[in-house]
Amino acid sequence: MNQYIISLSGHNPLARRVADHYNTALHTHVISYFPDGEICFNADEFKQYKDSRVVLVHSLGWPVQENIFAVLLAVDRLKKVGVHKITLVAPYLSYARQCQPINHHAGTVDLLIKCLEVAGVDEFVCVELHKSSITQLFSRPVNNISVEALLTNHIQKTVNTLSDYCIVAPDRGAEHRARSIANTLSLDVIVASKRRMLNEKVHIDVDQISAQTKAILVDDMISTGQTILELSKCLAKRGIKSGIVYAVHPVLSANALEKLLACSFFEKIVVCNTLPVTITDSRVELLDCASLIIEALLQSRMLYEHTTANKSRHKSHNWLG
Ligand code: R5P
Repeated sequence: MNQYIISLSGHNPLARRVADHYNTALHTHVISYFPDGEICFNADEFKQYKDSRVVLVHSLGWPVQENIFAVLLAVDRLKKVGVHKITLVAPYLSYARQCQPINHHAGTVDLLIKCLEVAGVDEFVCVELHKSSITQLFSRPVNNISVEALLTNHIQKTVNTLSDYCIVAPDRGAEHRARSIANTLSLDVIVASKRRMLNEKVHIDVDQISAQTKAILVDDMISTGQTILELSKCLAKRGIKSGIVYAVHPVLSANALEKLLACSFFEKIVVCNTLPVTITDSRVELLDCASLIIEALLQSRMLYEHTTANKSRHKSHNWLG
């Protein structure tokens, strides 16, 4: 059976990396607009995928509503032309922070997942969902990729005099990842406590003291950047002189990256390429998740081997074909 890796226009640097890594061409479909702003696709373009497997790689980041609807529409069209199986790789799943139950009913992300399933997604791949319990909201198979090893290896390989650093989690939600990285690297860990006052405003307390003078701040995302900025102020008061930020998803709303780069506390900001980052700066580094995504697709048999090149690259796997 033929299989294709596809993406939608405007949001696909990681999709390109995924296709490159799999040694195949990326098919990009242009999102078109009617004069009133409605989205549409050239329906004929999708006919080539009849009876095939399609892996659609598209993050659901900014502009959030537009990306969600474009993915829903593309999946619906793919289903209608007779695609055999549709896997959605949504490296960043928006609304995942809105996963708290409302009056004992599942939160907002539940609605998004249902919509994607109703449109026709058969299987999902995401990267570091905001909470791992979100996987229980899917009724189709989902592979929630962890980037903990990617972050840990990068810290180990690139941070000089690592013993000068402690690992810091900005809140309880980030504690597990931070502790695990700290354990692997034999570093101390500080867990701050955070209260979000209004949308942007956060209040952070750090009541532990570290013997180290530098910190590695690890979180699942940078959105407005307020969490990381407030945390850096608290750490500075506790005698920490500088820090490196590791965050999985560069959501980067409201000039967050510019705000962080303006602060001399930060030596470096390292984020994964689950969302596009347009700012280039020597203090910003992107970690590529493409190989993890391909491994996850292959391991869960959402994608199977198709070329000689891939055969040698992934020879340890046992394929259904
Ligand atoms: C919160 O639960 C998350 O883990 C992040 O700490 C938060 O979303 C970051 O948002 P911001 O950059 O807007 O403070």
